[in-house]
Amino acid sequence: MQILDLLHHRRSNKKFGDKAPTPEQLEQILKAGLRVPDHGKLKPYRFVVIEKSGMPQLCELFKAAVEEFDMGEERLKKAEKLSNQAPMIIGVIAKLDHSIAKVPTWEQMITAGCSSYAIQLAANSLGFDTVWITNKWVNGSALRSAFGCQEQDQVIALIMLGSPEEEGKIALAPESESLDGFVNYIR
Ligand SMILES: Cc1cc2nc3c(=O)[nH]c(=O)nc-3n(C[C@H](O)[C@H](O)[C@H](O)COP(=O)(O)O)c2cc1C
Repeated sequence: MQILDLLHHRRSNKKFGDKAPTPEQLEQILKAGLRVPDHGKLKPYRFVVIEKSGMPQLCELFKAAVEEFDMGEERLKKAEKLSNQAPMIIGVIAKLDHSIAKVPTWEQMITAGCSSYAIQLAANSLGFDTVWITNKWVNGSALRSAFGCQEQDQVIALIMLGSPEEEGKIALAPESESLDGFVNYIR
């Protein structure tokens, strides 16, 4: 698919087939996450790849957060559902450094956000559906520890990805968006 077509029509999808990226495809996807706009070249992002065999552990980490934040019974079921939903999840951590005056943490966070989006687009370009989720459990102590977070780090994304339910057909928006109301000009 042409780059502009993907940028204009990309969509999230929460339903997946059972294929995860191969190791070679995963490398291509993650490399896209490393080539993003990055003030000060801080590379303020790290990735945690959860493969199918790691999903039961992820489920336990979600459940620990449900208890920690008293999120309720329903969320326990949601934890089970989420950890069975995609054949792969990529966690994205913003590695924030508050001591850098030239690059405030909001800029570092945006760079990590660009990384997350680049990962989604790269996965789409290789024929995988994706969705970016978060929820309160990204702040769970057990999950943060398993993800190797230091105190100032923030888990900003769980990118779920996998083959489309219908072989070869990723989700795409039928129409591109209208610019009405979004743009002003200074001329
Ligand atoms: C930082 C961030 C966090 C998000 N967290 C969630 C989430 O926890 N659950 C969810 O259903 N969608 C979440 N979304 C939104 C979806 O990724 C998706 O963009 C949205 O459903 C709209 O679909 P579209 O991407 O096809 O327009 C999040 C998006 C961002 C950027």
